[in-house]
Amino acid sequence: MDIHGDKIIILDFGSQTTQLIARRIREQKVYCEIHPFNLALDDLRAMRPKGIVLSGGPASVYDPEAPKSDPGLFELGVPVLGICYGAQLMTVQLGGRVEKADKREFGKALMAVADDTGLFAGLERGKPDYQVWMSHGDRIEELAPGFAVTATSEHSPMAAIRHQELPLFGVQFHPEVAHTLIGVDVLRNFVFGVCGCEPSWTMRNFIDATVGEIKNKVGSERVICALSGGVDSSVTAALVHRAIGDQLTCIFVDNGFMRTGETESVLRFFREKTGLNVVHVDASQTFLDRLTGVKDPEKKRKLIGHGFIEIFEQEAAKLGDVRFLAQGTLYPDVIESVSFKGPSAVIKSHHNVGGLPEHMKMELIEPLRELFKDEVRALGLELGLPEEAVFRQPFPGPGLAIRIIGEISPERLAILRQADVIVLEEMKKAGLYRKVWQSFAVLLPIQTVGVMGDERTYEHVIALRSVDSVDAMTADWSRLPYDLLGRISNRIINEVRGVNRVVYDISSKPPATIEWE
Ligand code: XMP
Repeated sequence: MDIHGDKIIILDFGSQTTQLIARRIREQKVYCEIHPFNLALDDLRAMRPKGIVLSGGPASVYDPEAPKSDPGLFELGVPVLGICYGAQLMTVQLGGRVEKADKREFGKALMAVADDTGLFAGLERGKPDYQVWMSHGDRIEELAPGFAVTATSEHSPMAAIRHQELPLFGVQFHPEVAHTLIGVDVLRNFVFGVCGCEPSWTMRNFIDATVGEIKNKVGSERVICALSGGVDSSVTAALVHRAIGDQLTCIFVDNGFMRTGETESVLRFFREKTGLNVVHVDASQTFLDRLTGVKDPEKKRKLIGHGFIEIFEQEAAKLGDVRFLAQGTLYPDVIESVSFKGPSAVIKSHHNVGGLPEHMKMELIEPLRELFKDEVRALGLELGLPEEAVFRQPFPGPGLAIRIIGEISPERLAILRQADVIVLEEMKKAGLYRKVWQSFAVLLPIQTVGVMGDERTYEHVIALRSVDSVDAMTADWSRLPYDLLGRISNRIINEVRGVNRVVYDISSKPPATIEWE
């Protein structure tokens, strides 16, 4: 069975929304992959795509350095959809002309379609106000031979184009963003109407195919996996377990910086519900001893990271000969993207537990490496993981250690744990836990004055952080209702001994980060 079914290939010219194109297409149950714009024509052909999408990008087609694909792709007989820069490149490569527009067009625009077939099938011809999202400085001025205009907007007389005989389409707007209200229709028309794809990319099919692949690869060898309680490692473990059962052993290293009850709930689920082999290593005292007196956040991270690898290796060695290591790497981490992601991409690299595979000289099994996070969640549900685990907010590897600013002590950990429980309880009660990206408490290294009864107090401060984000690269503080903030603050101050003040963090990322460290 083909694991992917019909396939669309997206060539990336560096747009920030390239991944969104892929997600929108996969939401239609059609598999797609992102490759760099300069993918060799032979490789592209060998992938047997049913359609090709040329993404947008920040360059101008006439820049000497402008990224260009092999124009031979227009002759493969495979439908092509150029988006923004992709449409301009197609125009220029096929003999048309693109120029700097007098006015940059950025934001919402109203568009009328002149053709109700192809990309715009099902839309109304002549209706003047389809909302689309534009973001471009250049625009198409002269069509390439054989092309016709299929939509216009005020500033883009050629807002969409198509070849009259060949399956070549271009749009100046971005169908992948939510502000383009007809975006999903356009992409659906492309993948189904134009390319003739079947909607066969489902997590159920993915499980069937992947289970077979894992079985083949592993044979009768053994596999280990580090379980952290997070979605990615839990889904990886469940999937590999489904494939090879007892040949998988998971190692759960409790570093003592988990949230209240977290270790227990992970173990309970896997041991009781799935019968997975889990080695539970309670290393909390070791970590606490090593971190005592350490204030510097990078030092904390290093100590925890190295400690984890050390313990994991010791435990793995006890298992004898193990050939494979299963890991929950996701698609956004493996896309060989040309995006100009900026410094945040680098900042994030330290988050992964680096070094484990190289150190252990094991072969990797990464069954999620083609999936986006939302697909991993769907897969988790399909595998029977509880919703609580599948929709868990991201939680950093070093755990609460980096949410205690300054020195860590058992007392300070206890304070943060209690505050954390209250934040999560109240977010869930308010129905906001799944709507925000993350919400948590941070313990600050200062004390402030307060009054309680007739007494003056001098106690700890808790900072609340709640952010909205799509990928953690950028984030904005959540506009939580005042009443909710009030309830959380009251409860923390009343229920957590040693805290007399709660503040709310209203910084966006960048320039702030999500965690305080
Ligand atoms: P920052 O603080 O850099 O965090 O804005 C971005 C996202 O990454 C999470 N994070 C981590 N995740 N191991 C992880 O698996 C880590 O060491 C780590 N540090 C931060 C953070 O919670 C946020 O979602």
